[in-house]
Amino acid sequence: MTHSETRGTIHLEDAEVLSQQRFAGDQFILRVRAPACAASAVPGSFAHLTCDEAIPMRRPLSIMRANPEQGWLDFLYKPVGRGLDVLGQRVRGESVSVLGPIGNGFTPDPARPQIIAIGGGVGIPPMVFLAECLKDDPRFRVLVMMGSEVPFPFRLAEGEIEVPGMPAPVSSSVEMVESWGIPSRLASNEGYEGCFAGFVTDLARLRLEAMSGRELDEVQIFGCGPTGMLAATSDLARHFDLPCQLALEEYMACGVGGCAGCTVLLSTPDGPAMKRVCVDGPVFDARQVYPE
Ligand SMILES: Cc1cc2nc3c(=O)[nH]c(=O)nc-3n(C[C@H](O)[C@H](O)[C@H](O)COP(=O)(O)OP(=O)(O)OC[C@H]3O[C@@H](n4cnc5c(N)ncnc54)[C@H](O)[C@@H]3O)c2cc1C
Ligand code: FES
Repeated sequence: MTHSETRGTIHLEDAEVLSQQRFAGDQFILRVRAPACAASAVPGSFAHLTCDEAIPMRRPLSIMRANPEQGWLDFLYKPVGRGLDVLGQRVRGESVSVLGPIGNGFTPDPARPQIIAIGGGVGIPPMVFLAECLKDDPRFRVLVMMGSEVPFPFRLAEGEIEVPGMPAPVSSSVEMVESWGIPSRLASNEGYEGCFAGFVTDLARLRLEAMSGRELDEVQIFGCGPTGMLAATSDLARHFDLPCQLALEEYMACGVGGCAGCTVLLSTPDGPAMKRVCVDGPVFDARQVYPE
């Protein structure tokens, strides 16, 4: 039986590993049974995972999928050091301590029905979650754009849902996302077939350039990825005068607001302010993260 505790809206669960898949480029997709966390996870929120009893610090991972009915969560991760490396060795049937969901997620604005969700590398998971959550919401149309310099850890297929503005070779899509009725397109500097040769933000720019002024009025951008990609996403949004929310992936300690180890300087309407990425974010308005 899964042991679980609740502190406010954050749950602590001994989560059974249901599957651990390894992909090229040292990437993993981990599925765990964590019903309380799965029931309240939102796109942009994350969980703090214990990788091994010998490693005291938890590691934060964005929630990529949550199934409240079946009580599981999926994470996509790429080890940087020892913690996630050891997590990658956990096998089906073992238990992992999961603290979550933590943080404020994305807040889609119904006044702007066209969402462009831009994910780079280990910033892809929140975009997959966003797409899945909005797939049946008639208020929104989502386009997912992903960038990666290692092979995408998903089944790819020719995109059948048309995306205006894409050059002819840019045809690959993520099969799972397309099965939700949501188009996706991919970018890489590694020359993968069917992908845009360049950065994902340049691919998004092509899509935006193909829009009329009236269409642009309906667009909002969400982004998550490495710092350079976040800055480029913010520039893109500013160039087209579009609202943009970014999920930050700062290095963290406690993960629950107590240590101030994850603070970032933001430019808020009330002036400069230090904010904790874990509980004040991880999603922030791009104009606060990258003021002019
Ligand atoms: C909210 C949030 C969501 C995240 N989501 C994901 C995700 O979905 N998938 C994923 O693969 N990663 C994600 N990350 C990043 C991930 O948590 C770190 O890469 C991870 O903690 C590294 O652990 P490790 O054991 O592999 O390496 P460690 O041994 O912990 O770290 C190795 C080195 O990298 C540095 N470092 C570690 N993490 C970071 C960081 N985030 N920024 C800068 N330097 C760092 C450390 O200072 C250390 O020197 C997320 C981070 C945050 C804060
Ligand atoms: S990690 Fe401790 S306050 Fe955010």
